Amino acid sequence: MEKLRLQGFDFEAVRSKGYRLTRRPDSLNEALIQASLPRSASALKIVVKEEIDSTNTEAERLLANGHEVPALVLAREQTEGRGRLGRQWHSPENGNLYASFAFRPAVSPARLSTFTLWMGINICECVNAFFRVDSNVKWPNDLLIEGKKVAGILTEARMDADQTRDLVLGIGLNINGAYEDWPLELQAIATSIRQETGQAQDLNRFTAALSGRVMLAYEQFVSDAFRPLLKEKWPSYDSLENREVSLLQGSSRVTGIARGIDTHGALILERPDGSQAQIRAGEVSIEK
Ligand code: BTN
Repeated sequence: MEKLRLQGFDFEAVRSKGYRLTRRPDSLNEALIQASLPRSASALKIVVKEEIDSTNTEAERLLANGHEVPALVLAREQTEGRGRLGRQWHSPENGNLYASFAFRPAVSPARLSTFTLWMGINICECVNAFFRVDSNVKWPNDLLIEGKKVAGILTEARMDADQTRDLVLGIGLNINGAYEDWPLELQAIATSIRQETGQAQDLNRFTAALSGRVMLAYEQFVSDAFRPLLKEKWPSYDSLENREVSLLQGSSRVTGIARGIDTHGALILERPDGSQAQIRAGEVSIEK
């Protein structure tokens, strides 16, 4: 019982009945995740780290060492959390989610172009249902609430000639982060679930729910059943739809109206002259 108290559990004695749980740890706890894990995630091998450089890097190390898949690496804190485009992902120990799912999908590399978008929609739906918030997806990999970033996705894959060797889906979600301690410039562009809902949230139960959702979405992706669903759902989650946007391509800035995505997941941009451009990568800013 002392061991459990050290992990953040507490109990009170109930006469002739034993003990009643009075407090659960609010930090990441593998037993609590396992206790709420849906059946769809029962095959997941879960690895929980106190501190790690990056859960994506750890997932890649596990894959390279032949670790069983599907696997999920979680950490309370990251010392070298990574974002897209070589950016750093600020990852203090404060009840946020740092998670990386590791897979070996039998799909051709060409098929991966819609993976992050499909996962983004599923993560969005899970976040909205669990926390009762209204997040949407900013192409290609951000989750926003009222225009502020609440989560980022970093997908990394290793390829052989015509086969995907392995795939890591990294998710950073600001859940209980101490928003008031953030620098003002970060408060202007980012938010946390606690900030949006006004209360601290159960990180372990959410991690379990997310795992179930990611596993279902992954199976739909591999079997190709996701295609009509992505097409149908994308417009309701697309934060850029019909907005005037701009993005940097090399040293020039391209502007236009965002008109959804094509079947390969590229952003369709309607240029001022009426022509359409398919944007495969880049960082989009909303102009109006
Ligand atoms: C982005 O918005 O640029 C993507 C951020 C992804 C951050 C997550 S946190 C868990 C996983 N480990 C990392 O090092 N990065 C991803």
